[in-house]
Parts: sequence; structure tokens; C-alpha cells
Amino acid sequence: MTHTDATPFHGGPSAARAADPAYPAHRDCPMDPPALLGELRQQAPASRVTLWDGSRPWLVTRHAEARQVLRDERFSADSTRDGFPFVSPSATALRDSPPSFIRMDPPEHDRQRRMVTQEFMIKRVSRLGPRVERIVDELLDDMIAAGPPADLVEAFALPLPSLVICELLGVPYADHGFFQDRSRVLLNQHTPVAEVRAARDELTGYLRELVGEKAVRPQDDLLSRLLADHTDHDDLTMDDTVRMALLLLIAGHETTANMTALSVLDLLRHPRQWELLCADPGRVPGAVEELLRHQTIVHTGLPRVALADTEIGDVTVRAGEGVLVSLAAANRDERAFPEPDRLDVERPGRRHLAFGFGVHQCLGQPLARLELQIALTGIVRRLPGLRIGVPADELPFRHNMAIFGLFHLPVVW
Ligand code: HEM
Repeated sequence: MTHTDATPFHGGPSAARAADPAYPAHRDCPMDPPALLGELRQQAPASRVTLWDGSRPWLVTRHAEARQVLRDERFSADSTRDGFPFVSPSATALRDSPPSFIRMDPPEHDRQRRMVTQEFMIKRVSRLGPRVERIVDELLDDMIAAGPPADLVEAFALPLPSLVICELLGVPYADHGFFQDRSRVLLNQHTPVAEVRAARDELTGYLRELVGEKAVRPQDDLLSRLLADHTDHDDLTMDDTVRMALLLLIAGHETTANMTALSVLDLLRHPRQWELLCADPGRVPGAVEELLRHQTIVHTGLPRVALADTEIGDVTVRAGEGVLVSLAAANRDERAFPEPDRLDVERPGRRHLAFGFGVHQCLGQPLARLELQIALTGIVRRLPGLRIGVPADELPFRHNMAIFGLFHLPVVW
């Protein structure tokens, strides 16, 4: 195996250890995970990789073992513990601040997550359907009236989830330029540590003020309900409320935006699949699951640290060792999916791990599914003649971002 697939920030102390491949690895084709993942998956359920700081966590690449780790409470998601793996220097920047519940373990994780579970239940979220349909229609009306060409990210994929999460949380959409920009800074693995901290502080300051206003003048939104039900009763501090707001705001728009744009691109690169959906938009819900599997946007691995010696297949992970669970590798595991590299919108089942697994499995998945289904249905219905507007090698992929996707997607029709 070669070690030439190092990321740009690799080459520090780790360069001396040639034995374990550098990670994260480079993608040869932006639409497929790095070849390294397939090679490692072939060899063992978990393999050592070398990160930018010289640490050597285990990378779990097989579907069964990914599920095993993610549901096992002996693997902690608490980033303040020694041995927790950070895939980039920028990811370490937030180590000094208390985390939101995505980086907590039970029981505190469960206690905080339960405070917002109701808001994201399928039944509750499906009530947002008519509103999401209206937003999709209006965004497509505007894009069609102004174009072609258009940037599908700016005109559609980004505003849709941003508007929805703003309305749900009670964040003014007028501030979208600010929070989208700062979120990108936070998620960019090349951002210098000081800038990551500055972006976090600005976002936190903004949300603290907003939450403060809601405490005085509550509205009909999630943050006001959280304050009334929990913060006022002292079971959630104001700081925790602000951190939760930040988690929901970022997770609520960056993920779905990138998944929408990548889904459209993946389908356009597979004309037969695109035609199947245009001919029968009723196939969209199944296609969304297959696209989530095929384009796993949380692509650098879910970080965990072992609390006790534990077996992963025939590998023993020692207490205190870091683990990265590669959802991208697990979702292309031939043991779980026949012909895993093929996009097949008629593939049955929902066994993919794009939303993670176990106690941290994505809280927002009913909302993400609703948005993706309505977005893709709108596009195949109204723009069946959609095409990519630039040569494929000019597409700006988000290689260095914690959430994979596209910065822009130029399209014509
Ligand atoms: C296509 C869209 C999305 C994808 C692929 C996705 C993926 C994921 C993944 C893989 C995790 C697990 C992280 C871990 O175990 O360390 C996660 C957690 C989470 N997601 Fe999503 N997500 C999406 C959309 C959303 C949306 C729309 C929201 C809404 C606010 C959201 C909120 C969250 C939250 C709060 C967590 C933390 C859950 C916990 O720790 O208990 N996500 N997501």
C-alpha cells in the first residue's frame, strides 16, 4: 500500500511512522470514498491509521463492526477524554469548551437529548411537510425565473434547510449570511485554531443574545419551548441551552444542504437513475435512502475512545485508544450491500449508516428525510431537463470540510 494519499495537513510528527496509512485519505474520484478505505476493509474490520498529530487510532471500516462499536457504551463520544481522536488540528480547537450532547455520554447525553426528542419525532416533523413544500416551490420558482444557469447550492440546496431550521428554532433567517459563513469556518478542517474559536465565540454570542430575548418574550418555536420547559426549571443551564441551539442550527442546515446538492449531482451522473425518478417521482423516498448510502457526507469517521479493552472482530482495542468509525466505508461494504459502489435507486432496504447508529444516531433524521424527499421530488418534477453546467473536473468539492459536499453546483436546463 502506498502512503501518498496524505491530506495537506499531514506530514508533521506522523511522517516518521510509515507503517500505518495517513488519514484522512484523498479521494481519487470525488463521488467515491478514498480507495484506502476499501483496501483496509478488505484486510481487517479495524486498522490503525496515522493522524496529523502522530496519533494512531483504529479505523473501523466494516458495516457489522461499525454498528457494534456505535451501540457499545464502552466506546465514549466524550471529546475531553484522553485518547479521543481529532482528525484535524482545527477539530482540537473546541476541546477547551464544554461540549453539546453530541460529544457527551449517557446518562447526561440521554437527559439532554430527551429534552428535544419530541420536536424531531416523525409525526411532529411530518406536520412541517406543507411548509417545506411551499419553500421548495418558491425557491424553484425563483431559480427558474432567473435562470439558467444557476448555482443549485446557493439558489436551492442551502436556503431550503436554512429556512426550515430557522423557523423551527426561531432564529431570524435574515441572519443566514452570518451563521452560514461562521458554520463553514467551523467545519473547515484547514481553519487555524484561533479562527475556529473566534467563529464559535461569535456564533455563541449571537445565540446567547437570541435565547436571552426569548426568555423575556417567548415565541412559538423550539428554543422558547426549551427555555420554558427546562431552563426555567433549572434542569438545563443557559450555557447548555445555547450550546444545544448551536448544535441544532449547524447540524440542521449544513448536512441537508450538502446531501441535496450531492444527490442531484449523483443522479445526473447516472442518467438512467435520474430518468427512473423523473418518470415516477414516487420512487424518490427509496432513492433518498440509496443516495444517503452512496454519498455518506459525514465522511471522516465518527470519533470515539475506548473505555475498556474491547474486541472488534479479531482486533483488540485497548482502553484509552481512539477509534474512528467510517460510515463512508461501512456504507460501501460488500458484506452488507451487493455491488456497493453502484448507485441503484431501486435497491431495497434502509440498512445504511449515513445517520450513524446507537445512542447518538442522528436526532434530525426525520427532518432530513422530509426535506430531501420534498426537495428531490420538486426537482425531478419541475426540472427533468437539468444538466451540470460545467465540466466535471471544475466542480468545487468540499474535500477539507467535516461535512462532504459541494461549495457550488452550476446547473443548466
Ligand atoms: C442528510 C442529513 C444529515 C446527516 C447525513 C446527518 C448525520 C448525522 C450523524 C452521522 C450523526 C451521528 C454523530 C455521532 O454519532 O457522533 C448525527 C447526529 C446528530 N444530528 Fe444529524 N445528520 C443530518 C441532518 C440533521 C438535521 C437536519 C438535524 C437537525 C437539527 C440533525 C441533528 C443532529 C443532532 C442533534 C445529532 C446529535 C445526536 C446525538 O448525539 O444524540 N442532523 N447526524
